[in-house]
Amino acid sequence: MYITASPTTKTDVIKRNITVTLQNITVTLHNIAVTLHKTGFTLHIESYSAIIRLVGSEEIRPRVIATPNQKLNITIKVSVVRRDIMALVNRKIGYDEVETRDLKFHMDATKVSRHWFNEDPWLTHFMNSILSVVPDGERWVMQSVRKQLDRLTDPAVRKAGIEFIHQERIHAREHDLMNKAGVEHGVPLDKIENVFTVGRKFLQKHMSVSMQGAFAAAGEHFTATLSSVMLEHPEIMHETHHDLKSMLYWHFVEETEHKSVSFDVFTDAAGNGKAAYLKRILAMGSIGVLGLPMMSVPFFYLLWSDKELTNIESARRMVHTLFVDPGVMSKFGRMFLPYFHPDFHPWDDDNRAVIHAWKREFDRTGGDTSKAFDALVAWLEENPDAIDNEAYATA
Ligand SMILES: [Fe+2]
Ligand SMILES: [Fe+2]
Repeated sequence: MYITASPTTKTDVIKRNITVTLQNITVTLHNIAVTLHKTGFTLHIESYSAIIRLVGSEEIRPRVIATPNQKLNITIKVSVVRRDIMALVNRKIGYDEVETRDLKFHMDATKVSRHWFNEDPWLTHFMNSILSVVPDGERWVMQSVRKQLDRLTDPAVRKAGIEFIHQERIHAREHDLMNKAGVEHGVPLDKIENVFTVGRKFLQKHMSVSMQGAFAAAGEHFTATLSSVMLEHPEIMHETHHDLKSMLYWHFVEETEHKSVSFDVFTDAAGNGKAAYLKRILAMGSIGVLGLPMMSVPFFYLLWSDKELTNIESARRMVHTLFVDPGVMSKFGRMFLPYFHPDFHPWDDDNRAVIHAWKREFDRTGGDTSKAFDALVAWLEENPDAIDNEAYATA
């Protein structure tokens, strides 16, 4: 089955008789990827890949009665839309997800052990090399969004931007405490953050507001991508203190909730033209080029200061976790590249089902992040097919 219309054509409408196999709400065809728009049978082409994801399947149920795996002939009207229309459709997805939760986790040296990630030095310092700069990085993206607020034309984007700032302020506060606990163990996370802060202030002084917005959007894609992989594999922190896992997974959920906000703020403020696109890919390209040394230097510095550089067994476990099972960085790498596509939008990867598993329990228990984490683990065990492996396979 091939759809041959150009995705840059705004008004093409194609009617096709397609044989599909219904498996709950997911339909898989070959050689095309489309998303069902909630208003009915209008499908928007995302990219030419192998998956159809039907979002808003409630519209399809009254018209199609089928049992799982039953083959049906249905007519699908495919509307090919331009990127600016697509962005408007997608960006509304997540706004009602963004919710400020002013939680205090009281992280201290008893909950954040010296090797808090499964008592494994290499895995711990790998994550430390990222988390050491989280508080200051959060402040950067907050300030970046704040500076763009008066340029926004869409009140919904502005409202989400303000909620985003509230969320990130609380993340920074809680990660400050986590890093402080590491410093109490003699892990020099403060030195790494101090260097980052110098660079951040330099860039803030010399970079335009718009370019800072592009960096914020790119940085948020980085955190959202890492969060989505971690959310799908909570088992990898099996020996981490439960309170710390609860805190980290609260953060991963909220990073997912607001994953499109800085992108939409940038798009609304800078427009959808070529100049804005160039800024967007320049920012992500810079992070892509500089990200590896920016992470590697503090990572090896932390291992060296911890006298763990020659811990071969720990190194082997880290490489296995990052590149084999579950392959955190391998999956991360494949989800990173789509950002460079002109048609990219953060909600193209609609992973709300995973965060809803956490949020349902959080709301039911009146805000228990520990039970919410356990509920997420249980939900993933019950719904192994819910993990969006297609996102990795088709990226
Ligand atoms: Fe955050
Ligand atoms: Fe964020």
